[in-house]
Amino acid sequence: MAVFSGAGLSAESGIATFRDQETDALWSRFDPTELASVDGFARNPSRVIDWYNWRRGRLAHAAPNPAHRALASQPGLAHITQNVDDLLERAGVSEEGIHRLHGSIIRDRCHACCGYLETVDLSHPPPLRDCPRCGALLRPAVVWFGEPLPERAFRRAERLCAEVDCLLVVGTSGSVYPAAGLVALARARGAGIVVVNTQPSRHSSGADVECIGPAGELLPQLFEGLSLRS
Ligand code: OAD
Repeated sequence: MAVFSGAGLSAESGIATFRDQETDALWSRFDPTELASVDGFARNPSRVIDWYNWRRGRLAHAAPNPAHRALASQPGLAHITQNVDDLLERAGVSEEGIHRLHGSIIRDRCHACCGYLETVDLSHPPPLRDCPRCGALLRPAVVWFGEPLPERAFRRAERLCAEVDCLLVVGTSGSVYPAAGLVALARARGAGIVVVNTQPSRHSSGADVECIGPAGELLPQLFEGLSLRS
């Protein structure tokens, strides 16, 4: 069994989602073309860094919620996530066990090609600065719109989705490709699809089972008494 998660997994930790209708979702307040694209970074790099540092500050004060902990209680689960936060790790999932499709907000990387990578202090994230190795700008190690997904993570996620008997889809609207296409891949290869979301989503029509409600309530119930082998 594998879990494919999105921003709704961390919503109950106080981390804003991107497209939720009911709350102050990020993309209803901020322009992704200015804050999450290579062009936006070229136009105003400080604005982009300041915005990510504001999000890092929120993350510094957040904690895993019962949904993260329920997932972490199952060592046999494989994790594919679109989330850039580190709340699954803080709940106890090993970093190697998580296939991150959209990168990580807890690291900066060189915006050019030298490969420099550095973990940042979420409570005191550094302002815009140069790469100490090559002098280009550093940027958050996340995937921006128009950028390719990390190839290794995506290939592994594809392989997992082609092999699992069940894919648990938690807190994602299904709006962003190619990540969202993994659910259709798993379904086409015969996996049962279980969707957990506070509202119907683009994954509803392909679900074998759909559980409507907060992940922090539903996942602990789902896993109660169940222990998936590692
Ligand atoms: P979205 O913000 O698009 O969707 C969040 C989903 O979580 C919605 O369908 C909500 O109904 C659901 N939700 C909210 N609270 C929940 C809760 N407590 N329990 C269960 N479900 C809940 O987030 P993603 O689908 O993750 O990309 O967005 C995909 C990508 O779009 C993100 O990774 C990000 C964004 O642009 C990048 O950063 C590259």
